[in-house]
Amino acid sequence: MNKKNKDLIKLSVPNKPEYVSVIRLTVTGIANRMGFDVEKIEDIKVAISEACTNAITHGICQEEENFYIDFSSDEEKLVISVYDNGKGCLSNNIKTPNLGELNEGGLGVFIIKSLMDDVEILPNNGKGTVIKMTKYVGDDM
Ligand SMILES: Nc1ncnc2c1ncn2[C@@H]1O[C@H](COP(=O)(O)OP(=O)(O)O)[C@@H](O)[C@H]1O
Ligand SMILES: [Mg+2]
Repeated sequence: MNKKNKDLIKLSVPNKPEYVSVIRLTVTGIANRMGFDVEKIEDIKVAISEACTNAITHGICQEEENFYIDFSSDEEKLVISVYDNGKGCLSNNIKTPNLGELNEGGLGVFIIKSLMDDVEILPNNGKGTVIKMTKYVGDDM
């Protein structure tokens, strides 16, 4: 594993909330192998859980469909892309949360942006949504 030679792991995951814990275990293994410290691994686990929950709850309509996760790593960073073929994401649905009214929800994207170093939310080739998030192993970005 080095800068020029990226390692890529691809997962196809059933659209079922019970698989989010499996994803958490998977990313823990990947991040641990890359040398992330425990705190950063916790951040990555929370962020990926929010992204997967969004793919399941907002992205996919049919029960039997899967969503997908790519883990791309080199020696300095882990890039995780969670994507679905769902109805798509209106970027104006994503608001800055009102912290005085936490019962309104809408914290997932805010949490992902706070915990990861770089976050992009993009259309997935015209069908569905991609949340692409990067975490650096070291402190300098
Ligand atoms: N994968 C997705 N597909 C479609 N819409 C999405 C997706 N992810 C997020 N969104 C939109 O962005 C909004 C904000 O997401 P989030 O911050 O996680 O809050 P919440 O999930 O509590 O609504 C969602 O309400 C939804 O409208
Ligand atoms: Mg959410």
